[in-house]
Amino acid sequence: MVRETAVSVDDLVLPLFVCPGTGVENPVASMPGVFQHSVDRVTTAAAAAHDLGIPAVLLFGIPEHKDPTGTEAWDEDGVVQRAVRSIKENVPGLLVITDVCLCEYTDHGHCGVIRDEAVLNDPTCELLAREAVSHARAGADIVAPSDMMDGRVAAIRDALDDNGFADLAILSYAAKFCSAFYGPFRDAAESTPQFGDRSTYQMDPANADEAIREVALDIEEGADMVMVKPALPYLDLIRRVKDEFSCPVAAYQVSGEYSMIKAAAASGWLDERRTMLETLTSIKRAGADIIITYYALDFASGV
Ligand code: PBG
Repeated sequence: MVRETAVSVDDLVLPLFVCPGTGVENPVASMPGVFQHSVDRVTTAAAAAHDLGIPAVLLFGIPEHKDPTGTEAWDEDGVVQRAVRSIKENVPGLLVITDVCLCEYTDHGHCGVIRDEAVLNDPTCELLAREAVSHARAGADIVAPSDMMDGRVAAIRDALDDNGFADLAILSYAAKFCSAFYGPFRDAAESTPQFGDRSTYQMDPANADEAIREVALDIEEGADMVMVKPALPYLDLIRRVKDEFSCPVAAYQVSGEYSMIKAAAASGWLDERRTMLETLTSIKRAGADIIITYYALDFASGV
């Protein structure tokens, strides 16, 4: 009766990785329980999530070919676009969110186009807008830009409006830190930068006021929901964003947060279920309305 915070399956979003082929279910070595799925298999996985009451999935694509500008990102026949169509057709009650970024699609692994080893902000925004429109055409319910270019939310909002998707929502990765906790994800998405790091566009973990400025800008540009990422090391910012803005706040319990618990549990050092529940409860208590987590299936199935 006096417990203040309860995590519910309704709060959760399950990330899924889509790869080429059929019948593919490729385990990600650094993320036990996570797979790269081909379109047919990702549809089955999405249906299983829906059956467990998980309201939404977040799709990432591993393309057939990577190139300097990430052209497969906006290919109408790309893996994510095909997966969105298939999930919307076969699991109509499930909300489909797509990650909008170039790092999974570029051969250098950076989140934008490159000149002299530097990411070009404005040309990248144009490509991200194209990618978002192609996800919208495929039937995505929400697009989620994760690139951290300046002005990309405005570019995406304009492009969506111009193409007849004025009602499509944007969940922006607004306060996304340059984090070591993304390591396992980069195995899953095969998106490790080939040179340098993402510190010229992702945020310095030491900066909290700057995170608030990033969130304010994204909301001004048209974001409907904002995200803080990673989650557990940034609970202070989840709370500040929740208190200072009146839009829904998402928190991403990222790959490293997940794999850390998995690894410790596999060694017998932590009780996995208790640790999972404690971290998710803390993220919710900090103020998250939506929690994106690789633990969504385990949580929902009571494992
Ligand atoms: C793409 C993107 C990343 C994550 C989500 N979208 C990787 C990165 O920025 O390097 C990380 C998610 C995770 O670690 O689970 N830009």
